[in-house]
Amino acid sequence: MSSTQAVDIVGTARDRVDGRLKVMGAATYPIDVAVPGMAHAILVQSTVTSGRIRQIAADAAEQAPGVLAVITHLNAPVLVRGPVTPLGPPPLPPLQTDMVLHYGQHLAMVVAETNEQAQAAAALIEITYERDVPVLSPDDPRSARVTHPWTPDTTRGNVRRALAAADVRLDESYTTPDNANSPIGLFATVAVWDGDALTVHDTTQWPHGVRDNLAGVFGIDPAGVRVLVPFVGGAFGAGLRPWPHTILAALAARVTKRPVKLVLTRAQMFTSVGHRPNTIQQLSLGASREGHLTGIEHVSSSSIDMADELINPITHGTTEAYACPNLSTRATQFRVNVPTPGWMRAPGEAEGSFALESAIDELSYAVGFDPIEFRLKNHAHVHPETGLPWSSNALLDCYRQGAERFGWAARSPKPRSMRNGKLLVGYGVARAALQAYQEPCKAIATIRRDGTAFVRSGATDIGPGPYTVMTMLAADCLGVPIERVRFGLGDSAMPKAPQEGGSGLTGALGNAVHATCVGLVGAFVRLVSDDESSPLKGCRLEGITVRDGAIRITDDPARFETYVDILARHGLDELTIEGESATPGETSSSTMIVREGRFIPFTAPSRDARAHAGGLAAHFVEVHVDPDLGTVRVARVVSAVDGGRILNPKTARSQIIGGIAMGIGMALLEESVSDRTGRLVTTSLADYVVATNADVRDVDVVFVGQPDSMTPLGAKGVGELAITGMAAAIANATYHATGLRVRSLPISIEKVLAHECSILRSSSPVAAIAGWASKEI
Ligand code: MOS
Repeated sequence: MSSTQAVDIVGTARDRVDGRLKVMGAATYPIDVAVPGMAHAILVQSTVTSGRIRQIAADAAEQAPGVLAVITHLNAPVLVRGPVTPLGPPPLPPLQTDMVLHYGQHLAMVVAETNEQAQAAAALIEITYERDVPVLSPDDPRSARVTHPWTPDTTRGNVRRALAAADVRLDESYTTPDNANSPIGLFATVAVWDGDALTVHDTTQWPHGVRDNLAGVFGIDPAGVRVLVPFVGGAFGAGLRPWPHTILAALAARVTKRPVKLVLTRAQMFTSVGHRPNTIQQLSLGASREGHLTGIEHVSSSSIDMADELINPITHGTTEAYACPNLSTRATQFRVNVPTPGWMRAPGEAEGSFALESAIDELSYAVGFDPIEFRLKNHAHVHPETGLPWSSNALLDCYRQGAERFGWAARSPKPRSMRNGKLLVGYGVARAALQAYQEPCKAIATIRRDGTAFVRSGATDIGPGPYTVMTMLAADCLGVPIERVRFGLGDSAMPKAPQEGGSGLTGALGNAVHATCVGLVGAFVRLVSDDESSPLKGCRLEGITVRDGAIRITDDPARFETYVDILARHGLDELTIEGESATPGETSSSTMIVREGRFIPFTAPSRDARAHAGGLAAHFVEVHVDPDLGTVRVARVVSAVDGGRILNPKTARSQIIGGIAMGIGMALLEESVSDRTGRLVTTSLADYVVATNADVRDVDVVFVGQPDSMTPLGAKGVGELAITGMAAAIANATYHATGLRVRSLPISIEKVLAHECSILRSSSPVAAIAGWASKEI
């Protein structure tokens, strides 16, 4: 055997198994796929925001060189809406009506021999409209209110009375703008029909979701649809919904009887794969003089397009954030003529935590407590709704260890009291929590006669590292050297897996891989346990150790047999077992965990006994503000994270750094802007500015806590945890640096400069000039 595996690989920092492929350019993303005879589709989108199509002049395009088809609502077949999934209903199918509901709506598709011919022909299509005055704001009386069906309103105690009686009270409103997922890789689909069977290469975080959607839309058997995506590229949530352009690629292939490739343009990426909808949030908090929260009211209102439904849990996190007896949360959506929204990393939670953690910070100053001390005082030692103890919760350690590493003690409490040369220095903190949604997941595992293991599941890897972590986990659970283990994903022909989203895939897939690999070892044990010729005769899972591709009797290591020997003696080429994850909090008498090659019975506490905790973190931020330029720089971040059992500290740390980078973008830079007609103007990466390496400086991540008790794997999701609370930590640090409380993201140069000018005006002899300057802004 090539290596001796003395201790668990899980828990050690390891490079990505797909890292080399990626840096060599050998990883195949959907945009890289080419199949023989492939034609190309280009989408033509609405240039108006609301109205009807009066006419589509497509003759010139139809006659242009290389054109195979021009498809519009006039000739498109009827497409039904795909099935509702655990993520809610899908977006409406495209090209079904002459109604224009938003800028960037797909109105026509040109299919041609080459991409260039399709582009040239698309430019010849002329669309005339009957325009309506678009609904763009919640203040427009035509904007319909939708009460959120997916995150029910919550009440406990009597928040009105508590707020009225509070010693200290805070009522503020916070807003967040539309944000856009901006993955570098353009989303692409290649669709190939063979009779009624459809193969689709698609940029998606959920192969089975796309499969079921396409089957529903085209009225075919899901078993006849195969979705492939071995590498997704960046997605951040943009790949969670089954988008109309994927349906259109399949439609183009069906109509032209050719394989068809469709690649969204960069501008189309801003209107066709969802965005984080803007929010207006009202926070009312009450506290006693001793610093205990007595009431929390969180009312949110967010935008949604005219015809869709979207789960957007803005207030959900607030319900279990703090030990507070009186609480009320309400979430509504208002309909406007905007592109179909979607999900963007920590959807709802990123926005909601900005408001909540800003308000908590404001209240800490009002009550006169250090922001950390105030949070410690109000820590939810048990679940505030149910009173149940948590399945794991190391948030107090996050505060303590994070503060220590950050050097919080050096902070002078008064705003605007710390400087570094001419720069204003501020320290800020925020709490972060993200419940991971662990949905059922299946996997299949094989050990072959050559001693290799192949484990697979139809999940995806958008970059955080399932390929790597699941390879490590399978190696541990099977006792096969990691070089001989391969993990496969990104194919709906593999066992059914949930989306890579909601921070739940590592948990769901990990528990499935864990259970399946234990099942496979169990199958080997069954083969040998009553085999007279095996040295392992009579063995049971609890009495063996797996290591180096062999099963050993733990108490008598000289008694062992390799998987290869067992397969050979039984004349088998391989042994394969299917398995699935258990629901968190549900274990059977045969559930095991694997540690150092041994199998240990495992019982999870029931959900009646424990509240299932998600990931928890405390973010500490130092900002430097230039009072002359209005720039806010995040100089330093310490994030102390309770992610339960950390499977690979290297990839988990990368996840946290990525979330911090997006949080910096959300706090300081990112904002989708529309003009007064509702036309999106920020449709390039020059106009929609995201954080780059230069914006992300000194980042320190520390993991604290223990394996979560609810599942054999013990991991809690960390994918979206770091962006949660990050914008608030930066806003809180900015307040500490400047005395300016920015309640409306992003914390732009204009907002900071206006504040600095107003300070200058009131305090210096150049008041007149400064006053002018701030007015001009
Ligand atoms: Mo995430 S928005 O659940 O990919």
